[in-house]
Order: sequence, then structure tokens, then C-alpha cells
Amino acid sequence: MAENRGRFITFEGIDGCGKSTQIHRLKQRMETMSLPCWETFEPSSGPVGSMLRQCLSGRMKTDERTMATLFAADRLDHLLNDQDGIFLKIRQGIHVICDRYTLSNYAYQGVSTSLDWIEGLNSEAGKILRPDYHIFIDVEPEVSLERMAKTRFHRDLYETRERLTEVRNCYFSLIDRFQEDENILVVDGSQEADAIAETIWENISFLFE
Ligand code: TYD
Repeated sequence: MAENRGRFITFEGIDGCGKSTQIHRLKQRMETMSLPCWETFEPSSGPVGSMLRQCLSGRMKTDERTMATLFAADRLDHLLNDQDGIFLKIRQGIHVICDRYTLSNYAYQGVSTSLDWIEGLNSEAGKILRPDYHIFIDVEPEVSLERMAKTRFHRDLYETRERLTEVRNCYFSLIDRFQEDENILVVDGSQEADAIAETIWENISFLFE
């Protein structure tokens, strides 16, 4: 791909870790610098993503393996669709910031299904485009649950202490497994939002030079 392609940054972490705040700050900073950027999220707003949101809210019931497959299918559609697909934006020189990506699939569905299998499900997406940086914002499940108690009326499928603990542990083993091949930044999410934003920028600003 041409060198003036956009960069692809993904944010990861357990629910309530503060991703939204940091995504917003990064986008604002990039806009101030006149860097073209586009913010997006998974599950996406596309057809498969909408189905997944119904599964997460409990409106639709399905098996964990089906969920894992749907998340991977949603990712491919999010990447490849010709209206607002990530790959299209990147080719147009637009930087993409995505709230959750492949690591979420491994960390959340890896708790109940096989990691190797999920790796297989995501292999096509990996051949097409890999994030330039994965930013993992780490918080203890207690912090995450406290934050969610203040801001949300309803808890989604994975938003229990037990599951969040398993997911966080899964994130740590993934980081060990992938850190040689992928750029992964682990940030302490219990710090002030300004300090977190600075750490993120110090580590990724070189991508935009
Ligand atoms: P989240 O970013 O927390 O969205 P919201 O702020 O709307 O609650 O993501 C929704 C849930 O989707 C979250 O619990 C994690 C889950 N998820 C997976 O289980 N696997 C995946 O591959 C992705 C992308 C998300």
C-alpha cells in the first residue's frame, strides 16, 4: 500500500476502561493538527454489528461460538464494505481510530472458545490490514464496574465481575503472545485522563511524522 496511506489505531480494554474518553481526546488532538481522521467502533453499525448488539443486550440469544463467528464476520464487513469500510478510508489517506478490534475477539470469546480457532477466524482480516498500534487501557474490574454503575442503567452480556476478570486475564496472555509481532501499548487506566492521553500520544505520534 502507498506510504501516504492512513494509519490504523485500535483501542482495547474491558468495558468501562475509559476507551471512549481517550478516543475522543486523540481525535481532537489529530483534528487540531489537521490530520484527517475517522472514528469507528466494533461491533460496527453494519448489518452483522446490529445483530451482535441484540445478542449483547439479551434481546437475541445465541451460542458463544456463533457470537465469535459473528464478531469476525462483522470485522470483515467493517473492513471491506465499499461505503465506509476501514480499508477504503486507509487507502484514501484517512487515519482510522477504532474502538475495539481483533484483540477484543480473542479476549472476550477466548474465555469460552479456543484461541487458535478465533485466530483462524480473524486470519483473513489480518492479511488485509493490521493495526499500526493497539492501545490497551488497563483497569481493574472493580474500577470498571464502579464507572459503569454511574453511567449505565443496563448491563450487557459480558459486564459481570467474573467475566471482566477473565477477559482482563485473557488480554494479558494475548499481549504476551502477540507483542513480538504487533505494536501493543499497555496504559494504566487508573491515572487521570490527561496523563493517559499524553502517554498514548508520546507512543504513537511517530506514526504521523
Ligand atoms: P463496547 O465497546 O463496550 O460497546 P458499548 O460502549 O456500546 O457498550 O463493546 C460492546 C461489547 O462487545 C463489549 O462487551 C465487548 C464485546 N465484543 C466482543 O465480545 N468481541 C469482539 O470481537 C468485539 C469487537 C466486542
